This record gives sequence, C-alpha cells and structure tokens, in this order.
Amino acid sequence: MGDGKPSRMSFPSQATARGVGRSPDISCPAASTAQDVLVGKEAEILEHIARPAIAATIWKRKPTVDFQKWVDGLGRGHLPALRVILPVEQAESAVQAACDVKHLEPGPERDMLASDIGALAYIFGTIMDARSLQIRLDVCLGAMCPKFHLDNVTARLLCTYRGPGTQYVLEAEQNRSSCHSQLATGDVAIFKGHKWPSEEACSLLHRSPSMQHGTGPRLLLVIDAVDCPVQGASTNTF
Ligand SMILES: [Fe+2]
Repeated sequence: MGDGKPSRMSFPSQATARGVGRSPDISCPAASTAQDVLVGKEAEILEHIARPAIAATIWKRKPTVDFQKWVDGLGRGHLPALRVILPVEQAESAVQAACDVKHLEPGPERDMLASDIGALAYIFGTIMDARSLQIRLDVCLGAMCPKFHLDNVTARLLCTYRGPGTQYVLEAEQNRSSCHSQLATGDVAIFKGHKWPSEEACSLLHRSPSMQHGTGPRLLLVIDAVDCPVQGASTNTF
C-alpha cells in the first residue's frame, strides 16, 4: 500500500476517501439523543457519523465469493490475529506481518484482507482526524461481550470478516429480541461511544453475536482512534 490510501478493496463496492475528511463536528447544536442509524452501499456513508442524532453508520458490503470461501476455509491456527497501535499508513503491512506469523500462503485473498484493513484504517483515521490507531484483528472463539453496551471510546469501527456480525439495538428495546438488528459478514460499521464529543447521549447499544455451533471462530476487525481530539482509550472488547 505504502501511502496509507485505499488502493484495492476485497469487496465489489470500491471504498474511496472522497468526501471523508471531517473531524467529529462539535459545533452543531446538540440533539438530546443519538439513536439513528444510517445505512448505505458506499463508503461515504461512514463519515456521517459526525452528525448530531446519528449513533451509527453502516456501509453494507457483500464479500466476493472467492474471498469469503478463502477466509471461511482457514483453519483456526491460520487465522491472523493482531493487536497494535500504529500510524494509519502502517495498517496494511501490519496485517501482512500477522499473516506471515500464521504461515498464510501469499495470494490474492490474503492481499485483499490486508488492503481492505489498510483502506478501512485510512477511512476511519480521516473521519476521526487521527494519525494513529489501535487495530485489533480478533479471533473470537465465543461471545466476548454478550451484553448490550456502549463502548468507552469516542467511536469504534467494526467489521466481521468471518462469522456472524455484531448485533445492535436501541437501549430502550434491548429486552425485545424482535427489535434486535445485526450486521452482515463484511459490513463496516462505526458506532459512537461514551466519549463522543457532544452533549447528546447515545442510546444505541451493541453486543457480540452468540456463536453458532460448528462454524468455527469469528474473525473480527476493531479500530479505535488513539490520538483524535477526544481520546477513546479502549479497554473492552465487543
Ligand atoms: Fe463494544
């Protein structure tokens, strides 16, 4: 990748950084509650997380058949794991290094995974005005955070590459299963957290999905900003 900009994505919808470049907008009049979810088929939907009343933005994506087959077919011992704090432009190479550790054969799908994470790091870093990020690529063997919650961060990007996606719900409806929504595999979401710089309260919660028997571990990307205007030090896993 080299310059930290999106170069190649692993999914049909091409991510670009067009129009992505604002810091969280703290000058707008505060809404009383942030609870709305914006969903779109282009990467640009993600930047609307900065708007008042918005609790989450979701970029709907459909992984290519070859990529999903590749990642679903990886044995548990070959799933790359990562937990680092680094400059945005080093995200892709860090994923490649994590793949080397697990002796993953070079190939187009491995490159797609690395370049996709590099692109998502660039997009999230630009939205959050952060030059450094905490990036986790977690191999989840169980529901790490089974209770609905709000993260103790400014905002968090999530993408599940393998397995079921994160579930979310309005706080007032968390006990009504019919009101629960769920990200699809490959979707990218940004959720506001406790430390979002606004007077409004965020009432959208999320949680890990329950694991389905026989599907193997999930592969989950989590990105937090570590040097944006309001630091969101991450201590919990979702
Ligand atoms: Fe979480």
